[in-house]
Amino acid sequence: MTAAPDSAHAFVADHQGQHYSEVLARLSRNAAVRRYLEIGVAFGDIFSGIACRHGVAVDPAFQLKANVAANKTKVSLFQVMSDVFFEHLDLRRDIGGRLDLAFLDGMHLFEFLLRDFFNTEAICRRDSIIVLHDCLPVAEPMTDRDPVQAGLRGRGTPHEHWWTGDVWKVVPILKRYRPDLDVMLVDAAPTGLVIVTGLDPSSRTLKKNYDAIVAEFSRVPNTGPEIAQIYAETLLVPTEEALRRLGGRSYAHGGGWLRKVMDAINLQ
Ligand SMILES: C[S@@+](CC[C@H](N)C(=O)[O-])C[C@H]1O[C@@H](n2cnc3c(N)ncnc32)[C@H](O)[C@@H]1O
Repeated sequence: MTAAPDSAHAFVADHQGQHYSEVLARLSRNAAVRRYLEIGVAFGDIFSGIACRHGVAVDPAFQLKANVAANKTKVSLFQVMSDVFFEHLDLRRDIGGRLDLAFLDGMHLFEFLLRDFFNTEAICRRDSIIVLHDCLPVAEPMTDRDPVQAGLRGRGTPHEHWWTGDVWKVVPILKRYRPDLDVMLVDAAPTGLVIVTGLDPSSRTLKKNYDAIVAEFSRVPNTGPEIAQIYAETLLVPTEEALRRLGGRSYAHGGGWLRKVMDAINLQ
C-alpha cells in the first residue's frame, strides 16, 4: 500500500488487500444480506459469490459463465442499461423491498456511476451498504475514458488491459456534495473498493445538481496529479479492517414486524 509505484505511469503502488471478489463475498455473509443489487455483472463471477436471499443483476449484455444462482434463493436478471432499469423499477414488484447491499460496476464513466449511485441510494435504507468498484486506479493509462485508448496507453506496462475509466471522480464528488456520507477507501486488489455507508435515501442533492456536477467535473483533468490527490487526502483502509468495521451489521433479523412497517413507510 505504501510501496513505491512500479512503473512510470503509476502514481501509487498496487493495492495489497484481498481481491475485491473475496471482500464482497465475505461482506454478504457477515451481514446476512437479504437483497443484493449488482449493476454491471458481465460473467457473473462476483454475483455468484454473493450470499443473499434475492440477488438482482443488471447488465445490458450479460456474458454469464458462473452460476449466478449459487448461494441465493431467488435471482432476477434485467438485461438493460441501469438507467432503464431504474426508470421502470417497481421496488415492491421487482426487488421486494429496499436493498441491503449494492455493488456498482457498470459503465466506467463518472457521470454513469454518479447516476447509478443516487438511483441506488434512493432504494436503500440508512443502514444499507453501497460498494463502488474501480474508483482507486493505480496508473494513468487505465483511467482513459476510451477503453481502446486505455488499452493502447497501457501496452507493455504491468497493468496492460486494465480499464477503470474516470469513475475515480465520484470520490471527490461525494466528498464535496455529500459530506454527510461515510466514504471508506479500501485497498482491495486490483483497483480498490469504495464502501459508502451512512446513506440518506431521501437525499436529492446529487440528482438536483447533476448537470452542474457533471459540467464541473468534466473540466477536472483526468491525470495522475488529480488522482494522486485522492490518496494524499485519505488513508486507504486495509480490507480486513474494512470488514471488521462493517462487522456489526446484520440484516438477518430484518424480517420482523417493525422492519416490515418501516419498509412499507419507506416505500412510499
Ligand atoms: C467490468 S464489467 C462487470 C464485472 C463484474 N461486476 C465483475 O466484477 O465480475 C462491466 C459490465 O458493465 C456492463 N455495463 C456497461 N454499461 C452499462 C450500463 N449502462 N448499465 C449497466 N451495466 C452496464 C457491461 O456490459 C459489463 O458487463
